[in-house]
Amino acid sequence: MNSITLIRPDDWHLHVRDGDVLKDIIPHTAARFGRAIIMPNLKPPVTTTEQAAAYQQRILAAVPQGITFTPLMTLYLTDNMPAKEISKAKQSGFIHAVKYYPAGATTHSDAGVTNLKKTFAVLESLQQHEIPLLIHGEVTDPDVDIFDREAVFIDRILQPLLQDFPDLKVVLEHITTTHAVDFIQSASPNIAATITPHHLLFNRNDIFQGGIRPHYYCLPILKREQHREALIKAATSGNPKFFLGTDSAPHPQTAKESACGCAGMYSAHAAIELYAEVFEQNNALDKLEGFASIFGAEYYQLPINNDKITLIKEPHKIESQYSFGKEILIPLKAGETIQWKLAP
Ligand code: DOR
Ligand code: ZN
Repeated sequence: MNSITLIRPDDWHLHVRDGDVLKDIIPHTAARFGRAIIMPNLKPPVTTTEQAAAYQQRILAAVPQGITFTPLMTLYLTDNMPAKEISKAKQSGFIHAVKYYPAGATTHSDAGVTNLKKTFAVLESLQQHEIPLLIHGEVTDPDVDIFDREAVFIDRILQPLLQDFPDLKVVLEHITTTHAVDFIQSASPNIAATITPHHLLFNRNDIFQGGIRPHYYCLPILKREQHREALIKAATSGNPKFFLGTDSAPHPQTAKESACGCAGMYSAHAAIELYAEVFEQNNALDKLEGFASIFGAEYYQLPINNDKITLIKEPHKIESQYSFGKEILIPLKAGETIQWKLAP
C-alpha cells in the first residue's frame, strides 16, 4: 500500500507548553490532528476554568491561518481543588477532562495530588458530570523500582479508586506494560487508555544504545521488549478502549542534554506518520483509523472529524532540530529516515 486516507485523527494527550514556543510547535500538531487534549502541567498549573480559557486563546493564536484545530482543555487536579470548579468546568463546554498527577511523579507535578482521599469531593463531581479523569499512573514511592511504578500504581491506587467510584470515566494515560494492557482489557467500559508512539517504537535498550541517550528518557520510562509487544497488540487489536495519545512533550535541548535531564519526547512533528509505521510493520494499517480517529472521540462523546488526511509511503529524513522560542528542540528520530509522509 502506497497511500492511506484516514478520517482526520485527534491527539488525546499532548503537551504544548506556553508563551513564545507555541508558534513553533502548534503548527506540527494542527497540520495533522483536528483536536488535542491539552495537558495542564504548566508552571503554575492550569487549575481553574478561567485559566484554561486564557490558555486556550494563547494556543489558538498560534494556529496557522486557514487551519482548523481545536484545543480541548483540561484542569490540573490538586489536593485543594474545590468541587464546584467541576460544575463550572462542565458548564464552560471547553473543558473535557481533569488530569491527576501523583505529586512528584513527573515534569511539573509538584502541585499534584498527595493523597487521593483529599480529592474525593472532586472525583464525586467528575463521576456525576461524566468528565474523564486522566491518570498519570505511577507511584512515587522511592522504594518502588522505576520500572515497576505503573504496575504498582494499578494495584495500589487505581483498583481501589475504581471500587470507590465505579462509574468514574478514567483514562490511564501512556500505558507501558502488559499489566496495564490486561487491566484495561478486563475493566469496565468507562476505563480506557492512551498509547504513545514512543512506547510502540522503542524499548528500554534504546535509552542505553552505545551510551546514555537522554532523548529516549520519558515517564513512564520505556520498558522491556515484551511490554512493547503487548502495547502493539493492544493498539492494533481494534479494541476501542485503546486510542491515540502522543504525550509529545517538548523540552529545550539544554534541558534534555544535561546531568539531570528532563523526561519527555517530542513527536508532534511526525506523530501520525510514526504510528502508521508501527501499524504497517505489524500488518495492521486497516486498524489505524479506529485507533487514531474514532475510538477517542467516541470515548469523549465528541463527533468524529468530518475531514480526512492522506499519508503517502515516501521515505524521508526528519529535521535534525526545530526552533523552540529562543532555544532548540530535538525531535524524535532527529536526522533519521521514516517511511510515511503527510500529503500536502
Ligand atoms: O515524559 C514525560 N514528559 N512524561 C510526563 O508525564 C510529563 C511530560 C512532560 O510534561 O514533559
Ligand atoms: Zn503527558
